[in-house]
Amino acid sequence: MADKKAQLIIEGAAPVELPILTGTVGPDVIDVRSLTSTGRFTFDPGFMSTASCESKITYIDGDNGILLHRGYPIEQLAEKSDYLETCYLLLNGELPTAEQKAQFVSNVKNHTMVHEQLKTFFNGFRRDAHPMAVMCGVVGALSAFYHDSLDINNPQHREISAVRLVAKMPTLAAMVYKYSMGQPMMYPRNDLSYAENFLHMMFNTPCEIKPISPILAKAMDRIFILHADHEQNASTSTVRLAGSSGANPFACIAAGIAALWGPAHGGANEAVLTMLDEIGDVSNIDTFIAKAKDKNDPFKLMGFGHRVYKNRDPRATVMKQTCDEVLKELGIKNDPQLELAMRLEEIALTDPYFIERSLYPNVDFYSGIILKAIGIPTSMFTVIFALARTVGWISHWKEMLSSPYKIGRPRQLYTGYDSRDVSKLEDRK
Ligand code: CMC
Repeated sequence: MADKKAQLIIEGAAPVELPILTGTVGPDVIDVRSLTSTGRFTFDPGFMSTASCESKITYIDGDNGILLHRGYPIEQLAEKSDYLETCYLLLNGELPTAEQKAQFVSNVKNHTMVHEQLKTFFNGFRRDAHPMAVMCGVVGALSAFYHDSLDINNPQHREISAVRLVAKMPTLAAMVYKYSMGQPMMYPRNDLSYAENFLHMMFNTPCEIKPISPILAKAMDRIFILHADHEQNASTSTVRLAGSSGANPFACIAAGIAALWGPAHGGANEAVLTMLDEIGDVSNIDTFIAKAKDKNDPFKLMGFGHRVYKNRDPRATVMKQTCDEVLKELGIKNDPQLELAMRLEEIALTDPYFIERSLYPNVDFYSGIILKAIGIPTSMFTVIFALARTVGWISHWKEMLSSPYKIGRPRQLYTGYDSRDVSKLEDRK
């Protein structure tokens, strides 16, 4: 909706009128699309001041620590719904009725297995390959197996691909883990819930099937809900950008996985544990806090701070509660690494450097601790983030394709050489 206008005065040129668009909630945005007619562009590296699209899926108010999916607060979804309901909500816009939920769960369960031949892909990877490297490869490879649903202009195909991705990600993630361990890969079990099935495929073996703890399954489900979507972050924007070229959904999600891998984004939960290892002991904390504050030292406290949440991360609050439940269930006390994490949290919440910059523990700080306690190796943490975020990525991809869109093509401020001639090799100095 555009009732208000902004006027842009450019020295020596006629003023440009720019419409101001108003969303449901959140700040107004200035529509700069007509600027190209003046031969000028906007300059905004890091997209700090740029809305790249219009979306109805997720709303974040970083200053007030609010995260809404389709209008529902994340805290309520974590308490009153489950991951597959949240998936349905993100994909379809509304929470499912009992009947719709049963149908959706059954659809997902129909697609939990992956093509048997996909297993052979794993043999091409070293056993010690980073699980995210394998995930980028095998998720991209899905497009080689599911030709029957790759017409991105067909809404039914988009729907099938979405369900396939949500259903197959836990299977692939567990296969990656089993491959790294040299253990047989486990087939999915459709009599289990989504989270139970994932833990079953991760930790059971054909010779020993142990029951899955309901508390750990609930914690896993919460981790999935809390990571399901987060509006236009680096990986979601990557998926949209890849999708805008007409790429197939599996290729787009593989691109999202690659973007998520970085330590400033999804790689942070792994980086938290690596950092705790590096700090080693509570007695070394002061040295590392000093490094984090030192402008000449690139070291940052992993799991602290957020690009959008400048008050608190609402997901971190839920995650901390789940963290307490998991540690109690597993009877973990006196764990030196945990003690270290809790001391860091205490310091960051009281030290003026962190308070002034609003650097609070983020979701990755606690999820890293929970995943470690459950027995998931550090290198798998980002894979679990990718598994959970797949539904967010695919919801954004579907939303983009459901309305008119353009290929994403940012411009640049060119500061390289002007045109010059190529000299002969013997004349170059
Ligand atoms: N440790 C120490 N100092 C920090 C940290 C940190 N973790 N994060 C930011 N700062 C400082 C930064 O040096 C800057 O200081 P100054 O104002 O003196 O120059 C100030 O705080 C503002 O930081 P910024 O880099 O401008 O903030 P940003 O919004 O660009 O970066 C961030 C956000 C998440 C990349 C950054 O806080 C960070 O690298 N954190 C650690 C990695 C991490 O935990 N990432 C997970 C994010 S949550 C998962 C997700 O949603 O993807």
